[in-house]
Amino acid sequence: MPADVIIGGQWGDEGKGKIVDLLASKYSAVVRFSGGNNAGHTVINDLGEFKLHLIPSGILHDNVTCIIGNGCVIDPKVLIYEIDKLRASGIKVSSKNLVISDKAHIILPRHIEKDSEQEKARGNLKIGTTGRGIGPAYMDKVARSGYRMGSIAEWPEWEEKLGSHITSTQKLLRDLLDHDENVLLEGAQGALLDIDHGSYPFVTSSNSTIGGALTGTGLVPSDIRDTIGIFKAYATRVGEGPFPSEIQKSNPVAKHLLEKGHEFGTTTGRERRCGWFDIESAKHSIMTNGFNKIAIMKLDVLDGIEEINVLNGARYDTFPGWNESTFGIKNSSDLPENAKNYLSYLKKELKVNIDIVSTGPERDQTISIS
Ligand code: GDP
Ligand code: IMO
Ligand code: MG
Repeated sequence: MPADVIIGGQWGDEGKGKIVDLLASKYSAVVRFSGGNNAGHTVINDLGEFKLHLIPSGILHDNVTCIIGNGCVIDPKVLIYEIDKLRASGIKVSSKNLVISDKAHIILPRHIEKDSEQEKARGNLKIGTTGRGIGPAYMDKVARSGYRMGSIAEWPEWEEKLGSHITSTQKLLRDLLDHDENVLLEGAQGALLDIDHGSYPFVTSSNSTIGGALTGTGLVPSDIRDTIGIFKAYATRVGEGPFPSEIQKSNPVAKHLLEKGHEFGTTTGRERRCGWFDIESAKHSIMTNGFNKIAIMKLDVLDGIEEINVLNGARYDTFPGWNESTFGIKNSSDLPENAKNYLSYLKKELKVNIDIVSTGPERDQTISIS
């Protein structure tokens, strides 16, 4: 009956893929609603390690229908490659468990060329895009000159490989919800990269926030039950643009976060910029999405940092860190006192229930608090 939504609360790479994989078994369908293969969602579970760019992170579960919604932009070559790679790892992908909206737009080679030309022309004001043709594909969509997946018959090779997956996913979703099935919507990017609500112009070209979850699927507000915000216990950003709580690269704490957190882009391999948790920007994200639950990810990455800072408006709040390892902890009572204090502070400042704390990349390295 209801749809729940997972949305990145910061600048992407918060760990959305892990949480979708963790929760997916409770849902009949998992749906991507925005973005394209600029996203990179890493999932580590009993089946291995997977880096998903376009295919929803529910694909690793039997009995979950994965849907790429109308709000997405699809590079067919990349999608075919991703399907083949999953199959080669023994994951079943068929037109039954991977369904693509006929209204999703196609990324063509010329969009990728244009992405790189635009970046060159921006010079010092470049955005640091992923170079996947995302912006130019959405430009064509908005200019009403794009091609949609429904017209894929014009491309024999793509039609042969993807044609049977394409349908009206809005109707499919409506049927599922009307038959009391549960649906999970998987956000890409993060609220602060949203085209309207993010740090424009250093943003992506779609609505990665809750509004995009509706327009990007054709669902309606009354379908939504939980809107779950995913935040790291600190912050990272890939590409250019403002990052008020950024830690200078020369500071050993930046090196700690980068190395312990393996903060390298899943899609481009770029080093992610690292910084402290930023309360104001998190509040903006909560306001924009109406999160009723949040997950705090990668708490274990803070292990061993002597002093933890949080940017709170114009001031930094400071907390003593902890030396104990939190890696893999499953019960909140086992957390060091200083880690508990840090989480209590976040909960008090953000005024949202922390439902999940993640202490490692694997499915079971998770504390559920509810
Ligand atoms: P997404 O784009 O939001 O799905 O996030 P990414 O997959 O791009 O980046 C998150 C990275 O952190 C991935 O490499 C995950 O395997 C990893 N990860 C997720 N949760 C945790 C955690 O709690 N602890 C640690 N150490 N790594 C985590
Ligand atoms: P996931 O889903 C982190 C960033 C790019 C760049 C800006 C615009 O893995 O969290 P684009 O190619 O979209 O035009 O680039 O957005 N960006 C991401 N950063 N995680 C992502 O996705 C991102 N998708 C886009 O680095 O700054
Ligand atoms: Mg990512």
